[in-house]
Amino acid sequence: MSYILETVNLVKRFGGLVAVNNANIKIKRNSITMLMGPNGAGKTTFVNVCTGVLRPDEGRVFFNPTGSEKSKMEITGWPPHKVYKLGFVRTFQIPQPFLALTVLENVLAALGGRGENPLVAPFRWLWVKNEEDRVAKAFEILKKVGLEEYWDWEAYKLGAGQLKMLEIARALAVGAKLVALDEPIGGTDPAHAHEIFKHVQSLARSTDITFLVIEHRIDIALPFADYVYVMDRGSVISMGTPDEVANDPKVVEVYIGGR
Ligand SMILES: Nc1ncnc2c1ncn2[C@@H]1O[C@H](COP(=O)(O)OP(=O)(O)O)[C@@H](O)[C@H]1O
Ligand SMILES: [Mg+2]
Repeated sequence: MSYILETVNLVKRFGGLVAVNNANIKIKRNSITMLMGPNGAGKTTFVNVCTGVLRPDEGRVFFNPTGSEKSKMEITGWPPHKVYKLGFVRTFQIPQPFLALTVLENVLAALGGRGENPLVAPFRWLWVKNEEDRVAKAFEILKKVGLEEYWDWEAYKLGAGQLKMLEIARALAVGAKLVALDEPIGGTDPAHAHEIFKHVQSLARSTDITFLVIEHRIDIALPFADYVYVMDRGSVISMGTPDEVANDPKVVEVYIGGR
């Protein structure tokens, strides 16, 4: 089985609080894997420990960007910039879109100049021969996220959902293989949330990008997941297909029960 990310007994404590308690989470390549759970469950801390923002107290993290057994490597405790260079990217790590620049200019900025971006630099000569190719590449990315027709809009004119897609476009431009989206639909209404997830889903289908989506709202996000982990108070309490977790009494208890 080809997992792009795998954690083994991952633990993170803050003083006496166990924010992540023995997490064993596996993310299949090319999937949309959701990490759900109520506020304070430990979702963001989990991602922080995987991406090097925080050091784990115990456990191990493995990342395999290409799927060949040879490219599997242990990244436990690696600093964030090294994890980022490998292709495990959180959208907030990418500088925020420049609101005064157009959509196209924002993607071009993320693509970077010659050799500027360590992620794409080794491959740059293969696909970015000149400015024309860069623009073509940027349009290819904009098409994938559904922003093609907004290419000449200044970013400040975009709605919340479109801005989120621009962030994802920029993640694609820096060569991300695994994109972590921490509550991507926060601050958007249900219609936009639906649209964001539809684009994420079509990206996962049409590219080799894998998505780890952190979400606490189970209603909107769940149908778009291929696989789901549910955390509560630091521990993984359920995992499976959307149907399986939605019908798991432990999950129902966390979401509907007295808390
Ligand atoms: N830097 C920190 N220092 C101390 N406690 C923290 C820190 N970050 C998170 N926590 C605590 O860890 C728990 C998990 O938080 P978090 O990972 O943000 O949850 P979630 O993302 O699921 O809402 C919470 O109780 C939170 O208060
Ligand atoms: Mg969080």
